[in-house]
Amino acid sequence: MSRMRYHKCLTVALALATLLCLDAYIRWSPLGEPDPVPLPLATTPAPPTTPAPPLPLHHSLQILANMVPRADAYWNRQLHQRLEELGGGNGTSASAGTAASLGVPDWAAYPEPLQRFVSHGARRHYPLLLEPSRPCPPDGPFLLLAIKSAPGAFAERQAVRQSWGQAGAGVRTVFLLGAPDGDGDTPDISGLVAWESRAHGDVLAWGFQDAFFNLTLKGLLFLGWAGAHCPGARFVLLGDDDVFVNTPRLLQLLAGLGPGPVYAGHVMAGAWPVRAPGSKYYVPESFYAGPYPAYAGGGGYVFSGALLGPLQVLAGLLPPFPIDDVFAGLCFRALGVAARPHPGFRTFDIAPSDRASPCAHRALLLVHRRQPPETLRLWRQVRDPQLQC
Ligand SMILES: *[C@@H]1O[C@H](CO)[C@@H](O)[C@H](O)[C@H]1NC(C)=O
Ligand SMILES: *[C@@H]1O[C@H](CO)[C@@H](O)[C@H](O)[C@H]1NC(C)=O
Repeated sequence: MSRMRYHKCLTVALALATLLCLDAYIRWSPLGEPDPVPLPLATTPAPPTTPAPPLPLHHSLQILANMVPRADAYWNRQLHQRLEELGGGNGTSASAGTAASLGVPDWAAYPEPLQRFVSHGARRHYPLLLEPSRPCPPDGPFLLLAIKSAPGAFAERQAVRQSWGQAGAGVRTVFLLGAPDGDGDTPDISGLVAWESRAHGDVLAWGFQDAFFNLTLKGLLFLGWAGAHCPGARFVLLGDDDVFVNTPRLLQLLAGLGPGPVYAGHVMAGAWPVRAPGSKYYVPESFYAGPYPAYAGGGGYVFSGALLGPLQVLAGLLPPFPIDDVFAGLCFRALGVAARPHPGFRTFDIAPSDRASPCAHRALLLVHRRQPPETLRLWRQVRDPQLQC
C-alpha cells in the first residue's frame, strides 16, 4: 500500500470514528434533550407464592393480622378486635381482658386533635354537601387528580386549575373539602365555596370538620364517591393542593406501565411513629405500637383506578388510623400491592438551590410544597419550548 493510500484510509477511518463518537455524544449527552423515555418504576417483585393482587378479602385480613403487632395499644387492639369479628384472625383470639379494656391510660396527655379523633373516629358517614357538576366518562378519565384541600384554600385550588390540574385530554380534577361552614373559630365561607363549585364544577365537600386527623375520613369518603361516580378512572393521583405536579411527564410514565395494579410515590420504608409530643404526626405508644408499613407520602401518590373498589371495601371495614397516608399504605399492603418508589416524587422538596429551577422541575413528577405564584410560574417555565436545560 502506498503512503498516499495509507493516509487516505487513515483520514477516512478517523472521520468515521469522529462521526460515531459525535452521534453517541448527541444521543447520550446530559446536555441534550432529556431522555423522552420515562424511567420505569423500581419494581418490587412479589413473592412467587402470593396470588395476583388485589387479594381476596380473607387473605387481606390475614396479612393485617400478621403485620400489626398484637400489642396493648389502643389502635392495635381495635384492629385485632375488628379482625376477630370479621373472622380474619389467626385463630388465637385476643384475650378478653385486653379486648374489654379499651381505655387509654394516658388519655389526659393526648393532644386535643388525637382525643377528638378517638372520640369521633368511628363515624364515617357524613352528608355530601357539594359535588362535581359533570359525571366521569364511563371508561375514564385516564388520570383522576383528587386533591385534598381546606375550604379556605381558594388560591391554591385556582392555581391548580390554571396549571397542572387544568382539564386536558384524559385528565380530570376534583377537590376534596371538609365542611366550609365554620365552627366557631373559623368563619363560615360556605357561600363562597358554593359559588366556586357552581363556577368550576370540580368541588366535593362533606359535612365534617376539615382537620389533619380527619384526612383519613376524607380519603374514605372520596373512595365512596369515586367508586360510585368515577369507577372507570385508569389512574388516580391523591395529593395535596400545595404540590407541583409535572402532569405531562406523569401521563407519559403512566401510559408506559403494564396492566398490573400500581401504587407509587415517594415511599417511606421502615418508618416508625413519631413519638415527639409537639409534632403534628405525634402518635403515642399507648395509641399505636409497632412500625409503619411502607407507604407513599400523602403529598401525592398515584394508584390504579381498579383498586378503588377493593380499597373502599377493605378500608371501610378497618378502624381508621389518624395519619391518612400510613393508613393507605396499610390497606395497599393488605391488598398485596407493594408501594413502588419513584425518585420523581419529592414530598420532602428538593435542594433549596433547585427550588426555583424550571430544569430541576421538568425532570420531576411531583414536588411538595409550592405557593400558588410559584406553581403558576413553574408551570409556564417547564412547558416553555424555549427552555434549555
Ligand atoms: C397467631 O397469633 C399469635 C399471637 O400473636 C402468634 O403468636 C402466632 O404466631 C400467630 N400464628 C400465625 C400462624 O400467624
Ligand atoms: C372530624 O370531624 C368531625 C365531624 O365534624 C368532628 O366531630 C371531629 O372533631 C373531627 N376530628 C378532628 C380530629 O378534628
